[in-house]
Amino acid sequence: MNRSSQWYAGTDRNAYIHRAWMRRGLPSGAFDGRPHIAIANTASDLTPCNMHLDEVAEHVKRGVWESGGVPLNLPVVSLGETNVRPTAMLWRNMAAMAIEEMLRANPIDGVVLLGGCDKTIPALLMAASSVGLPAVVVPGGPMLTGTFRGAPLGCGTDVWKLSEEVRAGTLSQADFLRSESSMIRSKGHCNTMGTASTMGLLAEVLGMTLPGLAGTPAADSRLLEGAHETGCLIVEMIAAGRRPADVMTRGSFLNAIVALAALGGSTNAVVHLLAIAGRLGVELTQDDFDRTGSGVPLLADLQPAGRHLMEDLYRAGGLHAVLNEVRDLLDPHAITVTGRPLVEHLGEAKVYDQEVIRARERPLQEDAGIAVLYGNLAPDGAVIKPAAASPHLLQHRGPAVVFDSIEDLHARLDDLDVTPDSVLVLRGCGPKGYPGMPEVSNMPLPPKLLAQGVRDMVRICDGRMSGTAYGTVVLHVAPEAAAGGPLGLVRTGDMIILDVPARRLELDVPAEELAAREPSPEMTAAFARPSRGWERLYVETVQQADTGADLDFLVGSSGDDVARESH
Ligand code: FES
Ligand code: MG
Repeated sequence: MNRSSQWYAGTDRNAYIHRAWMRRGLPSGAFDGRPHIAIANTASDLTPCNMHLDEVAEHVKRGVWESGGVPLNLPVVSLGETNVRPTAMLWRNMAAMAIEEMLRANPIDGVVLLGGCDKTIPALLMAASSVGLPAVVVPGGPMLTGTFRGAPLGCGTDVWKLSEEVRAGTLSQADFLRSESSMIRSKGHCNTMGTASTMGLLAEVLGMTLPGLAGTPAADSRLLEGAHETGCLIVEMIAAGRRPADVMTRGSFLNAIVALAALGGSTNAVVHLLAIAGRLGVELTQDDFDRTGSGVPLLADLQPAGRHLMEDLYRAGGLHAVLNEVRDLLDPHAITVTGRPLVEHLGEAKVYDQEVIRARERPLQEDAGIAVLYGNLAPDGAVIKPAAASPHLLQHRGPAVVFDSIEDLHARLDDLDVTPDSVLVLRGCGPKGYPGMPEVSNMPLPPKLLAQGVRDMVRICDGRMSGTAYGTVVLHVAPEAAAGGPLGLVRTGDMIILDVPARRLELDVPAEELAAREPSPEMTAAFARPSRGWERLYVETVQQADTGADLDFLVGSSGDDVARESH
């Protein structure tokens, strides 16, 4: 007997209740044991990147009906990266927890996960992993390319660029505002290789989408075709009993790390992949990103690391063309939702535009993966994306300029005593400190240096950086200052050593002196101290970035056992 039949089968009062309230046009045959499929739908008018998912859901439904299942729309917690404060990351684990509970509590046999904007696909995958029912993702897809005065605009990346130009005095405020209505050309998520594009593509590399679907622009009719086929596929997956843990193995995660490097994907993928692996019980550490990813060449010339946008990637051959270039680095056994290995689905996928997808012999960068740094400033590690950094800063020694909060930075930025060699240090931005580990690590540069033509400096923070941002920014410093990490002991003027090739991040202060220091009262005063609600639960139980910043009691899974009767 399938899972949903534990609600619907039989002639007793409870089965009657479950069926009767669900009928509303459903024929009796709908309750004869055929699979019931939830469409976990993050569509929301306040998540603009996911606004179109109701239309996608309609096409999933067609496929489910066609294959003999019953599709059921299940609106779930949605997170709009640009709107939600203090940071959508604070709510990723909440969304994952709420989605997990609703998948388990309802009479369903499998689920199609509709996401797009940054945190939505990670939250959906974390939830589905903790429940374990057959699950498949339809990534909502990127926006089409908008243009301004004849040039393409990259969502996110160009906002940072244009606003720096305004601050440097090379772009007028009026022209800056004129670009606003050109930035978002169509439905879909950010069209740069930010977190949404990264996680949509990595969902496929993990094996969790219909092969070939990820990266299809939101406005492209092939997305709806793929949604329909996904509806058919989930019915087949339920019959085969193919579950997330069968698909997402250690091999799949290592494949995702290879793809992350070749695509020049977002640093946020580190915390998301670690959190998903934690739900599945797959052994994966931050060091795997460096070990497996650092020798992988950067092939996709996409913003923020490069020039092009997601529509160009799709036209140039898409994800499969990129994966074919690094096929020898992929685990040949890692299967997908089809039951067949990822590599088998790549077929003869070709590169149609070598400006967008470079050949393996002609990479944009040789070793593009995320580097994990250690040292007395980051005992549990910190990450940097060399592909988005300035080569001349990857080995650097300079004096720290310390900020105790993002507000402190904004208040003092305009008349700071800095040189291009200074190292900007911002703390109190980790999971506990802010709370939620916001994307503030790519601190704006002091105007004085911008006017001198400086466009990058070494920056160090216990927070995250938007996947659409760039610069020589050391992120995810663990432990964070609010968890007692040594970042909290740095003083302005201390010398800091960054050595990416040697994977080092050091504070050049004698150990005895450091041990005698107390954290500054200004810094500790700025830490979050929520007294109730989700934020309190979050701050009390969130883990550090190096293990994925999940809540400690959400790691692992509880399965899909049917709970006691409700009446
Ligand atoms: Fe939604 Fe960028 S704001 S993906
Ligand atoms: Mg983001």
